[in-house]
Amino acid sequence: MDLKGKIRVIEDFPQKGISFKDITTLIKDGEAFKFVIKSLADLVKDKNADIVVGPEARGFIIGAPLAYELGAGFVPTRKNGKLPAKTLNAEYKLEYGTDIIQMHEDAIKPGQRVIVADDLLATGGTALSNIDLVERVGGKVVAVAVVIELTELGGRNVLQNYDVFSLVKYLS
Ligand code: PRP
Ligand code: MG
Repeated sequence: MDLKGKIRVIEDFPQKGISFKDITTLIKDGEAFKFVIKSLADLVKDKNADIVVGPEARGFIIGAPLAYELGAGFVPTRKNGKLPAKTLNAEYKLEYGTDIIQMHEDAIKPGQRVIVADDLLATGGTALSNIDLVERVGGKVVAVAVVIELTELGGRNVLQNYDVFSLVKYLS
């Protein structure tokens, strides 16, 4: 399937110089959405993951159906102040800006096998902060799975100790 044909690219959003990859045009197409989730599941199914972790917000859109497809559990990581029980915090840098991401401290048991899933890999800051949260509670990150990879932003280098899977590549 021509996934690039389904992804809308908007220049200079949210700020000048950023070429925004908009997956809303992909996920509103039922056939394309199913294809993306099934394709990611095929790439990582031999990892025998117990849990898929997805960062708010777009990581929920990809991570939850991926977990369902794999028969794994889903753990959301959320922006500051949204999770009700006791949390661990990690700071992360974005392609634009910085923030704090949180995970419930009892979300993952030591030794559980975890896939970090998101819509897009850019600098790798988001994925790395999620990996940090998982590893601090003793989880084992067995893969990072994204729909889109922006290869010139270096995420794959930052994640060189992990198996990274993506379906569509753009330079930036
Ligand atoms: C976007 C995207 C990834 C992250 C990738 O999330 O959904 O999570 O940036 O960038 P990185 O590899 O440089 O960290 P963003 O925080 O913009 O917001 P959203 O998911 O809440 O829309
Ligand atoms: Mg995101």
